Amino acid sequence: MTMQDKQAWSGRFNEPVAELVKRYTASVDFDKRLALFDIQGSLAHAQMLAAGGIISAQDLKDIQRGMAQIENEVLCGNFAWQLDLEDVHLNIEKRLTSLVGDAGKRLHTGRSRNDQVATDVRLYLRHAIDELIVLVHALQAALLDLAQQHTHTIMPGFTHLQVAQPVSFAHHLMAYFEMLKRDAERLADCRKRVNRLPLGAAALAGTGYPIKREYVAELLEFDGVCENSLDAVSDRDFAIEFSAAGALIMTHLSRLSEELILWMSPRFGFIDIADRFCTGSSIMPQKKNPDVPELVRGKTGRVNGNLVALLTLMKGQPLAYNKDNQEDKEPLFDTVDTLTQTLRIYADMMGGITVKPEAMRSAAFQGYATATDLADYLVKKGLPFRDAHEAVALAVRFAVERGCDLSELKLEELQQFSALIANDIYAVLTLEGSLASRNHTGGTAPQQVEAAIARARKSLA
Ligand code: ARG
Repeated sequence: MTMQDKQAWSGRFNEPVAELVKRYTASVDFDKRLALFDIQGSLAHAQMLAAGGIISAQDLKDIQRGMAQIENEVLCGNFAWQLDLEDVHLNIEKRLTSLVGDAGKRLHTGRSRNDQVATDVRLYLRHAIDELIVLVHALQAALLDLAQQHTHTIMPGFTHLQVAQPVSFAHHLMAYFEMLKRDAERLADCRKRVNRLPLGAAALAGTGYPIKREYVAELLEFDGVCENSLDAVSDRDFAIEFSAAGALIMTHLSRLSEELILWMSPRFGFIDIADRFCTGSSIMPQKKNPDVPELVRGKTGRVNGNLVALLTLMKGQPLAYNKDNQEDKEPLFDTVDTLTQTLRIYADMMGGITVKPEAMRSAAFQGYATATDLADYLVKKGLPFRDAHEAVALAVRFAVERGCDLSELKLEELQQFSALIANDIYAVLTLEGSLASRNHTGGTAPQQVEAAIARARKSLA
């Protein structure tokens, strides 16, 4: 072994690592994306070392100068990443040393790659969470814009995918607004646990140098330090928690996607999605396929998979750091990337939806969506609810046999089912009447939906 291709840790080894093993254990191909966070963490560490007299002021200056150049190389894409140098940390350290000499070799004083990588991942994730929250909010705003136009658009609400009761289309959209609101809250909450500093834990037990962890935490804008060194280097629960929050975001969008796909099908015909989000078929000229929502539904599988991967990665690990943890990055990065792309495209797609109120209305009309309103009408006139339910069931059966809606039955026909039915029933059986009657917080009355939208706008502002 020449000095040139020696590994940072190879002093106690008698032979070089096998080629295959080198490739198997190297992570630089994927962890190089942590480079800027690695530099940020190193600079804070070096500043603390210098402040405590552990390295000299000149060393710090050299490190800062070298890191500025490295950062520039990384940003310009001409940093020469080497697989032989294993990971992002050793690549940067080696380059630093080649640029500034001994100061570069002093940077790793009082530190281990174990606390270094945990810090990098937390810095990366904190940044990703901040960006994702903005994207979730943008999608919420896009939902609001669409909802605002459709407080009075009536669609059938479904249970069991059978027509249940009429609802305002805006009300339906606002259900997703609520889901996304909780999603954003979950991200913000998870961020609190991400935002703790592992540095200072060193390999696992801490370090004998007179370090100042709180100072580093302050420099890196962490809310505090990880309280236990073994825990600091080994647990990735913060990444798992984030992945769970991400899986829920995708799950919510997958549900919405499933609806968009159904609604765009000519069988429903409730909406159209702008051409730029769809593709055609190479064999069937008539086709326009909702590829984007389908892919969102499909990609939910990989994001859920990433969560399971991380949980499984963690479950068998004894304290403290194990190389297993190197496997945390790809699932985490993939979840961040998938969420970023999905949220962006979704906010855009919401603006490309054409609503077909007539189709929604006629579907609501065909499905006896106001049957519950008839039952409630009878209850208000003194009939016990169970009896009212039975009377209306018989009326629906009668209407089904005639192939018409309840509102199309003559008064005498309706009165066969209850003598309590009078002429005022026709106002109750309209879709508008049904919506307007559900006039309480959380209900579908257009007035309530408008208020919900106004509150929602305020919450985003
Ligand atoms: N590439 C490693 C990881 O991602 C860095 C830490 C390695 N530590 C060690 N002692 N081998 O986890």
